[in-house]
Amino acid sequence: MEQSTQPDATNTKVSLEQKIQDLNIEQQNTKEEEVKLAADYTSGSEDEGEDNKRYIEISVPKSEIIYKLKPQVIGDSGIKFYNAQDLAYYDRLLKEPLFTLWVLTANVKKLNYVNKRIWEAGWRNNIQVRLLETAKFDLIVSQEGVADLLYDGKPIKAPDAVLPRLGANIDYFGMAVVRQLEKLNILVLNSIESIDISKDKLYTLQELGAHSLPFPKTMIARFPIDLDSIEREFSYPIILKKSSGSQGKGVMLVQNRESLNDISEMIDTTKPLIFQEYISVSRGRDLRVFVIGGKVIGGMMRVAKKGFKANFSQGGYVKPVKLSAAVEWLAIESSKLCKLDIAGVDILIDQDTYKICEINSSPGFQGFELATSIDVPEKMFDFIKLRLGLWRKTQQPSTPRHMVTIPIQAEHLLVNIPKGSNDVEQSPRTPNEHVEKK
Ligand SMILES: Nc1ncnc2c1ncn2[C@@H]1O[C@H](COP(=O)(O)OP(=O)(O)O)[C@@H](O)[C@H]1O
Ligand SMILES: [Mg+2]
Repeated sequence: MEQSTQPDATNTKVSLEQKIQDLNIEQQNTKEEEVKLAADYTSGSEDEGEDNKRYIEISVPKSEIIYKLKPQVIGDSGIKFYNAQDLAYYDRLLKEPLFTLWVLTANVKKLNYVNKRIWEAGWRNNIQVRLLETAKFDLIVSQEGVADLLYDGKPIKAPDAVLPRLGANIDYFGMAVVRQLEKLNILVLNSIESIDISKDKLYTLQELGAHSLPFPKTMIARFPIDLDSIEREFSYPIILKKSSGSQGKGVMLVQNRESLNDISEMIDTTKPLIFQEYISVSRGRDLRVFVIGGKVIGGMMRVAKKGFKANFSQGGYVKPVKLSAAVEWLAIESSKLCKLDIAGVDILIDQDTYKICEINSSPGFQGFELATSIDVPEKMFDFIKLRLGLWRKTQQPSTPRHMVTIPIQAEHLLVNIPKGSNDVEQSPRTPNEHVEKK
């Protein structure tokens, strides 16, 4: 019998815990010289009005100031964000990381808050985060497995886990990269299937509808748009939105038949659109609930400064809220139905019930951290550590996989064709031995 190379789950967990302990001791012993820098202090509170920005002094490691830090202190618990302007900061490598995490992003030259925060939090937790662009992968689909991964034309070692952060506008190529990584048995959060569901607002609602969860009445747009059929189902104002949009960019409110007519003449009919009942009670307010690994990590209320869109990226205020067990259940259940491990659930507040607006597979969290002071990357890492400890499969990038061989059936064997005959002669041979033995 060949010896199994599968690591024992409990052993993996113990060694992980040991590494964490060792790291803590190491960090306590190495005290790096620090310097003081002025940092932006921002609170998300509506009450503080435009005056919610102040400057305070914070200490940063002296060796890091060369990377042009522009520090911020976020929320009341004081999450420190060094926010390097020199992107070389985010290429640095740890000596002995606990594990490697790839963050798949659209553009590494334009790093946003989320990607920088995940990288920095990874660095502080001895987790090697690498920010990679899906467009730079070469995808070779073969039986060789991870040995085949090429990034920027060069072979690249597979990571322990992957966080796709490509938003609802993820393209065909991005989907193919995420799918490939998942097929290679790498832990991918969120999974390709869950991204596929949640990037499409109609698909999401179809899943929720099959399980009787509450959401606004929704109809997919057919072209040319039939004004009468829409007016039969909805009364004005009506929400019109792109099925795959984000940051409130593809959402509008149609006030009357005249506007609907105008819009129907100028919209791009190649992109799916949905009509939706406008939840007027919720107007400009909604709840954002953050779910990680089947647990709610926190919730905030978003309040639009003007208009009906509550998105933080549209300039809305954010404030922390307590959530009832029922609202938590609604957020967890919806994420589960979309098969998401990490989810930002948007919930509208109607007269008698909450209603799910949409679910995001790569939710931004700048507004959320500001409002709640909850350190989101830390929560993500906790969950990834759990999943790696419990679920890690053997990863031996240097060992190629073997192609599956399928024994040939007797009647498919090549036979001798007699000269001058069009008929096929039956093979005198017996079928494959291994087939016979079965
Ligand atoms: N049916 C609706 N009724 C009331 N407000 C809505 C409705 N749909 C969307 N909104 C508002 O518009 C915002 C953006 O809509 P959403 O579907 O979440 O799109 P995005 O993916 O761009 O965030 C929501 O946060 C909410 O404030
Ligand atoms: Mg939204």
